[in-house]
Amino acid sequence: MTTCALYTSYESTEPWLLEFSRQFPHLNVQDWQHIANPEHVKYGIVWKPTQAFFERFPNLTTLFNLGAGVDALLSNPAVPKHVEIYRIEDGGMAAQMNQYFSYFLLHYYRDMDRYQQQKQQKQWQVLPFKPASTFSVGILGLGQLGAQLAQHLQSYGFDVAGWSRNKKQLQGVSSYAGAEELEGFLKRTDALCCLLPLTPDTQGILNRHNMSQLPRGSVVINAGRGQHLVVEDLLELLDENHLRGAVIDVFEQEPLPKEHQLWQHPKVMMTPHSSAQSEYPPCVKKIGNTLQAIIDNKNPSGLVDRCRGY
Ligand code: NAP
Ligand code: GLV
Repeated sequence: MTTCALYTSYESTEPWLLEFSRQFPHLNVQDWQHIANPEHVKYGIVWKPTQAFFERFPNLTTLFNLGAGVDALLSNPAVPKHVEIYRIEDGGMAAQMNQYFSYFLLHYYRDMDRYQQQKQQKQWQVLPFKPASTFSVGILGLGQLGAQLAQHLQSYGFDVAGWSRNKKQLQGVSSYAGAEELEGFLKRTDALCCLLPLTPDTQGILNRHNMSQLPRGSVVINAGRGQHLVVEDLLELLDENHLRGAVIDVFEQEPLPKEHQLWQHPKVMMTPHSSAQSEYPPCVKKIGNTLQAIIDNKNPSGLVDRCRGY
């Protein structure tokens, strides 16, 4: 019988175990601490496992990451180099990201930040109407999440573009690719949405040089990883009024320390890494089907390319 060791760093393993036993009872997913013969275990289902996990299971061949981003696993020296890593593709997160970005994009497009300021000054002034087609949204990363967001945002009539490593053919989406096309992409973007994975190439991509290419009055929304954003550069560009506002969901240090100046900034809205969460039923379905495909010697999707970093 297959046995899989489950490790979650931030929550109880209970809801995951229940869902696995409901959908895939034959896969025998167990809490990592309660497994009788750890040396027989080849499969781990994990979120941010510690060294103790790898010491307990010396014969792992495959890890299933309980989220989309694998930066924490790839930078963890305890993860053996030969172990294959599969990640969650979508897992209910694309729909949540669509909601998250729609909410904040409509906030800026419909001038809610400006109307809130007017309210504080008891000012009654209707701002001019701008057609949605004049609001240019640029998505960094057109993968599982970014591509679905790009399609979704078209329902509002926004002018949508995306940037990725390879060119994409997505209906109604202007595709930019590679470092050489980044500047052109940024120059046409009023609202920059980051849904990139964290890799050596993307770390610090939201820096002064790149954010200065955005037209004056643009906004930045980061739901990728905290290390994409150079916070000091963002704060300078906000204070110089080059940027109109920012929304940040992910931080270099989480939870964000209480003394951090971001908490106070009037032009910054923040959420606690909550833009999209792995949903139990679709994630379990994806992992179970992937594991079954591996057992059946098939090549399922979601395999992480360690050289590429995502
Ligand atoms: P994905 O399917 O792997 O997509 C990644 C996209 O980024 C791809 O389009 C890829 O280009 C592009 N990319 C990677 N490196 C690049 C580079 N150097 N230059 C240009 N484009 C590059 O990932 P996903 O499932 O959409 O997830 C994206 C990220 O969102 C995750 O890694 C995670 O960090 C973040 N996330 C955050 C939350 C949250 O709650 N805040 C939740 C889920 C995910 P190609 O298509 O050409 O390969
Ligand atoms: C969450 O941040 C994820 O990568 O799934």
